[in-house]
Amino acid sequence: MQVRWSESHRVAVIDPQGDLGIRTMVEMKNTISSLLRDGCRVLIVDCCGVQRMEAMSLGVLVERLCRAREVDGTLALANLSADLTARLNELRVHSLFQTFDSVPSALEHLVGIGMAVRAEPAGRPGPALSGRRRRSAVSGHVPVLLAEVIQVLRPRIGGRYLDATVGLGGHAEAILQATGPTGVLWGIDRDEEALAVARERLAPFGNRVRLLHARYEALPQSVESALPFDGISFDLGVSSRQLDEAERGFSFGREGPLDMRMDRSAGETAADLIGRLSERELADLIFGWGEERWSRQIARAIVRTRQQQPIATTTALAGVVAGAVPRRLWPRHIHPATRTFQALRIAVNEELAGLGPALEQAANLLAPDGRAAVISFHSLEDRIVKQTWRKLASLAGMRIVTKRPITPTDAEATNNPRSRSAKLRVLERPAGAPEEA
Ligand SMILES: C[S@@+](CC[C@H](N)C(=O)[O-])C[C@H]1O[C@@H](n2cnc3c(N)ncnc32)[C@H](O)[C@@H]1O
Repeated sequence: MQVRWSESHRVAVIDPQGDLGIRTMVEMKNTISSLLRDGCRVLIVDCCGVQRMEAMSLGVLVERLCRAREVDGTLALANLSADLTARLNELRVHSLFQTFDSVPSALEHLVGIGMAVRAEPAGRPGPALSGRRRRSAVSGHVPVLLAEVIQVLRPRIGGRYLDATVGLGGHAEAILQATGPTGVLWGIDRDEEALAVARERLAPFGNRVRLLHARYEALPQSVESALPFDGISFDLGVSSRQLDEAERGFSFGREGPLDMRMDRSAGETAADLIGRLSERELADLIFGWGEERWSRQIARAIVRTRQQQPIATTTALAGVVAGAVPRRLWPRHIHPATRTFQALRIAVNEELAGLGPALEQAANLLAPDGRAAVISFHSLEDRIVKQTWRKLASLAGMRIVTKRPITPTDAEATNNPRSRSAKLRVLERPAGAPEEA
């Protein structure tokens, strides 16, 4: 087993070889321990040369990965075989590390997010750096930027965390795993159906989890008894489940009622909205929140169609929109109705109006050294996050941790196309910042 340790990168690359039995793993465990003692905070395990790994050895590796997490280390596994990926997924430890197709792509990402510096790794580049690739296969539902969120939130054992958009509980589960056995997580969501899924998924954590049906716009009132938090996460927008369920009405590709409400117990549906607004109001909405250049034509087509009969389903609306845009000018990589659906979803759920104030409130709920991490999925959301962080940094002494947003690796974007537009921005309340922002 080779270890290449780069002082300048603060990165160590280990490349175990062959059939990994318990002896090699104990050797690897000791190596990782001594690297951590020497101040290594970023560790890449290159699995390119691994032929087979015994179940017990895998257990030893995972134990070391946990240890590295406790000392605030960042972990990356490169060149994982599909088999090893599947077995690590079975152990539900994917939140402990990031996976990459190759060591160079791991280094590139770590440099990009400021965890490593750009310099040639010390020592002779071994076979691992020569770019031999093996595709990493991630199976099942993997939340967006999971490892990155854990890395920037730095969850600590016994800490208090808030997931303001708990959704299906993916990020929450990883936070609970990293803060056990005493850490506590409050999770809120406006969608009762998502909360039911999260409740079941997080049940093994018992009373370390508190779930609430609420909107993040009402944050301080909802979580008053729990303050302050060591970390708060927001993963904005809709969940994959909301998108995939035809009857929720979010997807132009699935026939269903034109609903689009994240909280089905309240508010106006998308069908009601497009039945009520004037042509001018519709055009403004589609342009403003969908950034759709054909907004006027689409609004006109909607009004003309609804004069014949109400537009009640997702596919009916998608057809009207597609028919309003000249075919030869349809966007190349997305359905012509994508932007209109985005605009309606934002309007139905009033997604943007309360975001800035909610982020400011969240910053006020942070303990000293606490961090807030926000994942956004389109430029309108990202702009609000960026501007709010800037305002809090200049007026309230907060620190912007991410000068540039963190984005998915190529491997994540390939494995989970929904992650492609994701941007993660992080804010920290330094120990000396005033109490109230
Ligand atoms: C992208 S999903 C979160 C997925 C989650 N991080 C996971 O790992 O499973 C976003 C969730 O935020 C919820 N949501 C959106 N806007 C909200 C708001 N204003 N208040 C509370 N929850 C909201 C949605 O209902 C959805 O379940």
